[in-house]
Amino acid sequence: MCGIIGYTGKKSAAKTLINGLHRLEYRGYDSSGMAVVYDGIISLSKKPGKLHVLTDELKRFPLEGNTGVGHVRWATHGVPNEINAHPHLDCKGQIAVVHNGIIENHQALKKRLIREGHKFTSDTDTEVIPHLIEKYYKGNLLEATRRATALLKGSYAICCLHSAEPSRIVGARCDSPLIIGVGEKENFLASDAPAILDHTKKVIFLSNLELAEISPEAINIIDYKGRKIYRKPAHIKWDISQAEKSGFKHFMLKEIFEQPEVIKNILKERLKGNRVHFEELAIKENLFRNIKNVVIVACGTAYHASLTGKYMMEELIRIPVWVDTSSEFRYRKPIVNKNTLTILISQSGETADTLHALREAKKEGAKTLAICNVLGSSIAREADGVIYTHAGPEIAVASTKAYTAQLTTLYLLTFYMGYLRRAISGTENARLLNELKKAARLSKLMLEGFKNSDNKIAKYARDFRKYYLKKHNKSTFLYLARNINYPNALEGALKLKEISYIAAEGYPAGEMKHGPIALIDENPWVVCVATKAKVYEKMLTNIQEVKARGGIIIAIVTKGDDRVVSQNINYIIEIPEIDDFFSPIVVVIPLQLLAYYVAREFGYDIDQPRNLAKSVTVE
Ligand code: G6P
Repeated sequence: MCGIIGYTGKKSAAKTLINGLHRLEYRGYDSSGMAVVYDGIISLSKKPGKLHVLTDELKRFPLEGNTGVGHVRWATHGVPNEINAHPHLDCKGQIAVVHNGIIENHQALKKRLIREGHKFTSDTDTEVIPHLIEKYYKGNLLEATRRATALLKGSYAICCLHSAEPSRIVGARCDSPLIIGVGEKENFLASDAPAILDHTKKVIFLSNLELAEISPEAINIIDYKGRKIYRKPAHIKWDISQAEKSGFKHFMLKEIFEQPEVIKNILKERLKGNRVHFEELAIKENLFRNIKNVVIVACGTAYHASLTGKYMMEELIRIPVWVDTSSEFRYRKPIVNKNTLTILISQSGETADTLHALREAKKEGAKTLAICNVLGSSIAREADGVIYTHAGPEIAVASTKAYTAQLTTLYLLTFYMGYLRRAISGTENARLLNELKKAARLSKLMLEGFKNSDNKIAKYARDFRKYYLKKHNKSTFLYLARNINYPNALEGALKLKEISYIAAEGYPAGEMKHGPIALIDENPWVVCVATKAKVYEKMLTNIQEVKARGGIIIAIVTKGDDRVVSQNINYIIEIPEIDDFFSPIVVVIPLQLLAYYVAREFGYDIDQPRNLAKSVTVE
């Protein structure tokens, strides 16, 4: 949902900003732009389309200067054209602003500013900000921004420049992320850490309603009342190479292949002998002993991880677990109280609906625990406790490694709680940990088999495309699974929808007879998870039902399972033999690969699918 960056130092601002914007492109990619100050004048470059269009423009018409702000956009107000692209200027072209978020009262503010003589050029909500700053500017950009932002309703992270203060950038935030990158004789503002990791790993996280003024030599933070704030920088552990493609064609493929290593690292980080240890948790053990129920709230892929978490916790701890999507939870009257542990799962830690769900739960008196990937993110900081998933930066919009990291963390949390509540004995705990370690090894083993880009799944994807074209683009996908792998059916379908734009639905296989079976003729391709599990026989029946109606089946089976193979199934994908309870971590991988290869067959932009953005900071 838009990425913003500001730079002030000795380097070329334009080059530094473009480099940072590349790392933020996952947040929005329908237009981009930057403003750089040089010789007391602001120069602007903006282009609709992906970032490479702006990059080419800057090669033809370079911008000089060492201080500037940049933006990648995911349009909310106003179509993605050049005029609506950020930065936006005031009437005199002396103030430039980039913005991530939505200004809900922009219409009223705009009306008032027009009455006062301000001239607007775009359809965006953002443009009110430079005009408000212009109105209050009396030689101090920080103070003018403070007064301007006090009038804004909605969410924002902004970076502002004034040509009269040529080596200074002011940032402010409310419900959208903004961090300060602390460099050597240079400083940065950015939506997210990968944008600045090339230059520094020292960051200061701005809190809500705080403002920061940066120059090459100094950083000054104040709150919305103008009171000074002192905050020590934190150290980001992520390495910039984690945000590179490292020889893979797409980030998504790279991130799929990173999963075994991610699981291994999480286990290394979290296990002290046979005890699970969450160093940063900040919630007392007694709370886990005493809570009566658990509610897990999340969006998208994180929601599917949450659903799997329900199976884990209910089976092992025998505690009631409810799961909800954040956007529903926050607008119902959720039944949570001091006896409820509300877990918020979010890769980015910034998803607006999940953030509001967290606040709702807190208001009702529930204890809140965030499971996030991004250090210092809003959800991580506002929750009573946090567990980081340590998946490293995830760049592809379609989430893969963050999902398996969330699953791994949920397993560990389940063992941790189960042990504290005496639902799991020491011996059982040790056995479970061994199985989890085995799952990490097996996922690695399985991925070895898909290293060649012309592998089995890639071939199936090719067949699908041919079939799809033959059927005049009518074919769809249905994903069926049961029990602990049912959320994987939803996740497999989501991955396919996100990057292939093919209609896909995930269903608990047992529910098929209550509706989806009506969809089955020779058109849909049906992915069936039929690995060795307590629901195996039931899945075989479901496969027969699909087959009898002419559906084309891709079956995911346990290696060496002759029964499914002998049933004349169209396509088979084998996974290594694994304990049913831990199979979701392995089963999801072929589903991710299937979505990837189908999108590749159609030639789509896999890392930046249309209409989507990775960090959804608008409601
Ligand atoms: C967007 C992304 C998904 C992600 C979801 C939740 O829809 O495209 O990949 O699962 O947001 O994001 P979060 O950062 O809260 O996990």
